[in-house]
Amino acid sequence: MPDSKIKIAVLVSGGGTNLQAIIDAANAGNIPDGELSLVIAGREGVYALERARLAGIEALTITKKACGGSAQFEERIIRELESRGIGLIVLAGFLSILSADFTGHFEGRIINIHPSLIPSFCGEGFYGLKVHEAALARGVKLTGATVHYVNEIPDGGEIIAQRAVEVHDGDTPEILQRRVMEQAEWIIFPEAVETVCRRLRR
Ligand code: GRF
Repeated sequence: MPDSKIKIAVLVSGGGTNLQAIIDAANAGNIPDGELSLVIAGREGVYALERARLAGIEALTITKKACGGSAQFEERIIRELESRGIGLIVLAGFLSILSADFTGHFEGRIINIHPSLIPSFCGEGFYGLKVHEAALARGVKLTGATVHYVNEIPDGGEIIAQRAVEVHDGDTPEILQRRVMEQAEWIIFPEAVETVCRRLRR
């Protein structure tokens, strides 16, 4: 087992409530095999950056626009990750789809949270509220969240953890999104981060 903890980078594009759940778990001593080392925001000015600042975690903003395209954007992210010896990349509401080059480069070292029970309501085009709108339109009685490894297929990598959440009569996409976060995402994501760090240290 390597002596050092796995250095974790969290990639975000929004409010960062999942990032916060991971920060809280780390502060509570529940991620003993990992060390939160870097936050990368793919958008300027998102609240996730403030959460990183308050937690004392180094944070960078890297946008496709500033980099001059997708390939340069990914190259820049790879450089920042490698120069810090990052061992696990956590996608927490990160809205850019990463190329097969990128996912292949970090095989087995990228995980994502998706707000449904994969294979339902997942893949290209299913992100944010769209996932919950689709679940309500189909009339499912249970939905939930899934943490999975990231490969070249959107939401197609091996499943690490899932948790089911009830759909209630009268739910709006916003109400359902919030329940899935509170009752599934914020619980299983930090747990899965620790599970994967432990696996990587073996
Ligand atoms: C979450 O619902 C997550 O499942 C999805 O994007 C949302 C991110 O929210 N991929 P936050 O930025 O973690 O608050």
